[in-house]
Amino acid sequence: AYHVDTSNVSEVSDWACKRGATLTHCNEKFTEALELLQNHAELRNEASDYSRALAFRRASCVLKSLPFALTDVQQLIGYKDIGEHVRKVLADILDYGSSPEVEEIRNSEWFHKMKLFTNVFGVGPAIAKSWIDKGWQSIADVRLAGSISKDWRISWGLAFYEDLLTPVTVQEAEAFETLIRTEMKKISPLSIVTVTGGFRRGKSNGHDIDILMTHPDEGAESNILSKLMGALNKCDLVLKGYFTKNTFSSEMLSDDSKKGLRSHFDHFEKWIGICKFPKSFQTDRKLQSVRDSSTTLPESAQQLSHYSGTIQHQDVLPSEHVNISADNTMSPCSKHTFKTDDKQKSLTLKRERTEMLEDSSPKSKRFKYEDLSEKEVISLANSDRNWTARRVDLIVSPYSQYYYALVGWTGSKHFNRDIRLYAQKVLGLRLTSHGLFDMKKGEALPASCEEEVFRHLQLPYRDPTERNC
Ligand code: CTP
Ligand code: MN
Ligand code: MN
Ligand code: MN
Repeated sequence: AYHVDTSNVSEVSDWACKRGATLTHCNEKFTEALELLQNHAELRNEASDYSRALAFRRASCVLKSLPFALTDVQQLIGYKDIGEHVRKVLADILDYGSSPEVEEIRNSEWFHKMKLFTNVFGVGPAIAKSWIDKGWQSIADVRLAGSISKDWRISWGLAFYEDLLTPVTVQEAEAFETLIRTEMKKISPLSIVTVTGGFRRGKSNGHDIDILMTHPDEGAESNILSKLMGALNKCDLVLKGYFTKNTFSSEMLSDDSKKGLRSHFDHFEKWIGICKFPKSFQTDRKLQSVRDSSTTLPESAQQLSHYSGTIQHQDVLPSEHVNISADNTMSPCSKHTFKTDDKQKSLTLKRERTEMLEDSSPKSKRFKYEDLSEKEVISLANSDRNWTARRVDLIVSPYSQYYYALVGWTGSKHFNRDIRLYAQKVLGLRLTSHGLFDMKKGEALPASCEEEVFRHLQLPYRDPTERNC
């Protein structure tokens, strides 16, 4: 069933991860329609809808990698992922300019409401359906109903619905990245901070910001997240979120159960939540331009303190320290050359270790807005404010798993799904965000850069911008 032709690289592969896909391509009219059908199947979320959704996505990915604009469905003969249903949809678009099936869904009230409601943070298809069953038509209707959920994500998601629905721009992502890097350098100068997710794939906006962090000294990464959140709270940038502990154990690498392939569940320590973004993040060109000029990083924090008022400790680190992770796109192996000399590095590590020991008592961190009542959350959202609420995912990986975590958190979601299935079916390897495991040999395959991950998988290296499957 899984035929892979390795004799001719230029031949179009059955695997999306082999072909790659860029953000823009010449078949957008078709992929938009197919992804609407995918989205519709995901929202229906009944027995066979998972595989229907996947089939539409696979077909869409074939069109993304076509080197020409489709003019005739005959051009798709021989492509594994183009079934009868998809062929009909494409033929309709080619013949009449649109597909009746797609347009009916696009104009259906149910689809509108499902999209509206699942856009609330914490709301999936099941909850959205129950809201529709209650007769609610709009976010205003849901808000009027009052306390409808114990899940803080839903109360915060409803209160800040408009904020969270407005796409995060690349300017905001870069401003936030700069801030995180500045704070991390104070906490742990050797740490590595990378923006992943859609922004790393070159998207100009997204529904959130995903930041992956690690530390070259294995184990030293374990305390950085709580310290970072403490620092962000001091800057009054934390609204609400939750911590997940690292629950990884090495047996999980070889865990062959089916669910591993289907879900995007991983075991990293993370913070998932909502942050305050000063309005200046959207416009501050100066802040953006400091991105690659690390010596000016601390000044950017000063600029920010004008808005947040609470960044106090401006002790500028020696520039060697500030430089260390200046480039965090982190793809080629050469990127992790540290500019500190060994003596300085060991001093830094020693200091960090001491600080971590001092800080290791599990004191309950209280963030400023953590305990607001639902009413208080609503009045905060309705207050006169110079900030926007933004969804943020902060993930921490041990360095030994870092490049697998990087591939996993860069995505796309479908690229991950495809590359993991390819690894299993073609090579007998189990790929997750934690590593790659050879099921036959019973051993893990470590990687010290993203290219090495692709080499282990016998795949041509794909730049993040080519992983938009
Ligand atoms: N991911 C993951 N584990 C999760 C959540 C997400 O590995 N628990 C991966 C997803 O596969 C995705 C990436 O991390 O590729 C980022 O997830 P997400 O923010 O949901 O998607 P983006 O591609 O960044 O899209 P958007 O721009 O809408 O945020
Ligand atoms: Mn994202
Ligand atoms: Mn998403
Ligand atoms: Mn995310």
